[in-house]
Amino acid sequence: MFDKLQQKWKVNGWQLTAVLCTFAIGGSLTGIAGRRILALLPVEHPVGWTILYIIVMTLIWPFMVLVVSIPFGQFPFFRNYLSRIFRKMNPSPLSHLSPLSPSSPLSLAIFASGAGSNAQKIIEHFRNHPSIRVALIVSNKTDAGVLDKGREAIIPTFLLEKEQFFRGDAYVPDLRSMGIDFIVLAGFLWKVPAALIQAYPSRIINIHPALLPNYGGKGMYGKFVHEAVIAAGEKESGITIHYVDEQYDHGGTIFQATCPVLPNDTPDSLAERIHGLEHQHYPRVIEETLLTQVVKNQNS
Ligand code: GAR
Repeated sequence: MFDKLQQKWKVNGWQLTAVLCTFAIGGSLTGIAGRRILALLPVEHPVGWTILYIIVMTLIWPFMVLVVSIPFGQFPFFRNYLSRIFRKMNPSPLSHLSPLSPSSPLSLAIFASGAGSNAQKIIEHFRNHPSIRVALIVSNKTDAGVLDKGREAIIPTFLLEKEQFFRGDAYVPDLRSMGIDFIVLAGFLWKVPAALIQAYPSRIINIHPALLPNYGGKGMYGKFVHEAVIAAGEKESGITIHYVDEQYDHGGTIFQATCPVLPNDTPDSLAERIHGLEHQHYPRVIEETLLTQVVKNQNS
């Protein structure tokens, strides 16, 4: 049973102990506080008392477990756990991937494996957006900087497990139950499995730090791309934003922008220039792509 809980919650043995202690102590404190509060209220009837007790417990419990989770170092776990419960209680009307429509906010998931500078720009761009919100940060690496960026922005984070991603359900049910409408890859280094692409047709886009179709494909990411561009003596590089299909760096191009490759460029200096282009264009192109799809759906 404990093994199953560890897998379900994606925690190690120590974390599971801390989580269970938080549940136990938080639950007990909720019970004590609930009785104290009810003792202050003039409720005599046993049925009325029981109903009120359940209401008070339900209201206090999330607060109690959040407070108790802090000394156990499990605040992020409980914040995500509670937000999942609230989402289930208030499911998004788009949770079964209905047509993109302007009537309710569109939820974006950002998938990233690295530092997350693009993710940061996307989060900032949509922070107060009227119809698009970044609802989830997903990574395949426990120590990816992008997870910290998500936590700082109080956006739920999600860690992928290889077996489930490539040989299981590719997390499609989880993403749907979280109401995710659209997926943006921002330096995500795992190949996207067919199951996920089929579940989100034309709703997954990627950014590549070169002018595709050149310098793409397996192993072509980050500095390896810039090294290859410089080694080939290119005078120009750039970025490509494209739909994701079942081949690496292959789906239809949405947008490209170029920059020069200077004679004394190193992979790092070129990467910096490319990052500048990415930050300038990616959030806006995501917004335009989503809104264009909404308009198309309205007209079809
Ligand atoms: C970006 O330059 C992105 O284009 C690249 O990874 C970097 C992530 O940077 N993606 C690929 O190479 C995909 N083939 P970031 O973590 O700072 O956003």
